[in-house]
Amino acid sequence: MAKPSLAYLFTAFVFLSVSTSSAQPPNPPLSDTFLSCLTQHANSSTPHSNIVFDNTNPNFTTVLPNYIARLNTPLTPKPLLIVTVLQESHVQATVICAKSTNVQLRIRSGGHDYEGLSYVSQNPFILLDMFNLHRITVDVKNEVAMGQASATLGEVYYRIWDSSKVHGFPASVCPIVAVGGHISGGGYGNMLRKYGLSVDNVIDAQIVDVKGNLLNRQTMGDDLFWAIRGGRVASFGVVVLFTIKIVPVPETVTFFRVDKTLEENATDLWQQVAPTTDDRLFMRLLLAPSGKTVRASVMALFLGEANEVLPILEKEFPLLGLKKVNCTEAHWIDSVAWFNDDQGSKNGAKPETLLNANPREGLEIIWKKMIELGEMGLVFNPYRGKMAQIPSDATPFPHRKGNLFKARYSVSWKDPSPAAAQNFLNQTRELHSCMTPYVSKNPRSAFLNYRDLDIGVNSFGKNSFQEVYGAKYFNDNLQRLVKVKTAVDPENFFRNEQSIPGFVVMTDRYR
Ligand SMILES: Cc1cc2nc3c(=O)[nH]c(=O)nc-3n(C[C@H](O)[C@H](O)[C@H](O)COP(=O)(O)OP(=O)(O)OC[C@H]3O[C@@H](n4cnc5c(N)ncnc54)[C@H](O)[C@@H]3O)c2cc1C
Ligand SMILES: *[C@@H]1O[C@H](CO)[C@@H](O)[C@H](O)[C@H]1NC(C)=O
Ligand SMILES: *[C@@H]1O[C@H](CO)[C@@H](O)[C@H](O)[C@H]1NC(C)=O
Ligand SMILES: *[C@@H]1O[C@H](CO)[C@@H](O)[C@H](O)[C@H]1NC(C)=O
Ligand SMILES: *[C@@H]1O[C@H](CO)[C@@H](O)[C@H](O)[C@H]1NC(C)=O
Ligand SMILES: *[C@@H]1O[C@H](CO)[C@@H](O)[C@H](O)[C@H]1NC(C)=O
Repeated sequence: MAKPSLAYLFTAFVFLSVSTSSAQPPNPPLSDTFLSCLTQHANSSTPHSNIVFDNTNPNFTTVLPNYIARLNTPLTPKPLLIVTVLQESHVQATVICAKSTNVQLRIRSGGHDYEGLSYVSQNPFILLDMFNLHRITVDVKNEVAMGQASATLGEVYYRIWDSSKVHGFPASVCPIVAVGGHISGGGYGNMLRKYGLSVDNVIDAQIVDVKGNLLNRQTMGDDLFWAIRGGRVASFGVVVLFTIKIVPVPETVTFFRVDKTLEENATDLWQQVAPTTDDRLFMRLLLAPSGKTVRASVMALFLGEANEVLPILEKEFPLLGLKKVNCTEAHWIDSVAWFNDDQGSKNGAKPETLLNANPREGLEIIWKKMIELGEMGLVFNPYRGKMAQIPSDATPFPHRKGNLFKARYSVSWKDPSPAAAQNFLNQTRELHSCMTPYVSKNPRSAFLNYRDLDIGVNSFGKNSFQEVYGAKYFNDNLQRLVKVKTAVDPENFFRNEQSIPGFVVMTDRYR
């Protein structure tokens, strides 16, 4: 099938949305309109033609890629334009110009959204690609760091370690996800029992709002600053950077992996111990089919030396049978690389593997790794500790006290056929459904960063409080998020299939 031209698509969209009379002359291509708008609004001397790509540009396909095969087919909707911003003022101008051309915006930092909402939309859209904004600065004396939207968490960890051997940051286990999506979605990692979530350690942010204003914590106000720490910035604006509090870690930490089969009852005991043990100990449980049984593995990080954790586990979890020989003692940064080395081999990977100047290359590595595993798996992450001490309305992320574990259902596959995708998605749904009796109810909770369109999609404001996914992701915090949304983006410009709805019935202007 021949690709419709850009001009055609744009015209068709304008037709549908504002019913221009057919007697009017054809519109100029969107890229022209958009470029002249950008030139007017962006104050830099950088030539803007270099940052705007339409589908006639030979580099369009180089700039666009994503690594989810399921969303990488000829039928996957493509953006009308990709804007690869180089500085804050480009972000500001892109928001203003997308809004003035009535085209929806999708915002991509690392591109790791599980449903691809950062770069796919069924409606005509412009892709605001943040990948050039990945600067990180670390100030050890004041224990703060700043990371721009597309810096990966791996780069953040590495830069912190480069400045101090006794500091870290409590965010993603997987270093390849980016600051923009990960932190604003309430990202968690191995230190959550000691330090809570990434958002519990965010102290400032720079965002661009729907009017193109560049705001910080003070100028955005308490409500909006609350909302973007776990409610996802994509409903409210574009985040350019987060300022974070770096946290102390001991010079030596301990990590280990233990494999058991289910018959050994170890998982029963794990359920009791993992959420109640010392806050410095994070024991993640991984379940994967293995022949006729299920292999259970525990991968753990302890913020201290082996001599401290061994007696704890000997007393609380003797079935694990952990010995000193099974423990690795190293710097915190080595534990990050080790967790990322999925098999948890004794020596793990070098910290430098966390540095991927181009997040996309890293992406490929991760997907390859996930594909090697190639089967349905479950991962349980224990809570309590610090998580239970933070009130459930402190940030939009509500799953605090009373929660024992977060479960992740995952499967990856090589076969690019739609049939394979259907099969594996079906398996995931089956497993998810068979877990129902054992998990939170009314509503069944979900984690925003583990995006899942199966739990409901936006009715675009028509039934704000009936947005089922909103209650699952945010529980009672949904109400405040809706209030903030209504105040800062009443026309619902910043929207996607699972964005925060506003109070009022929205126009369909940006649908
Ligand atoms: C292999 C893998 C491992 C993972 N491990 C963890 C983990 O350990 N802990 C955890 O919490 N999560 C984990 N995740 C989930 C991950 O945190 C989320 O997918 C996260 O949203 C990724 O952020 P991103 O910027 O890379 O993705 P993107 O796809 O770029 O963005 C995700 C969402 O945020 C929006 N967004 C992105 N940038 C901006 C911006 N600058 N301004 C406004 N909105 C923006 C997008 O529009 C989209 O809706 C993992 C994901 C993968 C694929
Ligand atoms: C495409 O990218 C190449 C390499 O980055 C560059 O030299 C070339 O000028 C680009 N072409 C266009 C049309 O942008
Ligand atoms: C231009 O943009 C920069 C960075 O966004 C900003 O600091 C500066 O004040 C702007 N200048 C003008 C004249 O708007
Ligand atoms: C600990 O390491 C020893 C030696 O490598 C191994 O035989 C044993 O199975 C390991 N124990 C656990 C609990 O993994
Ligand atoms: C395992 O569980 C079974 C049934 O609950 C119990 O009878 C058995 O004693 C347990 N084994 C161990 C080693 O704890
Ligand atoms: C999965 O597929 C089976 C067989 O095709 C079907 O009966 C079942 O309803 C599907 N399950 C889900 C949750 O879609």
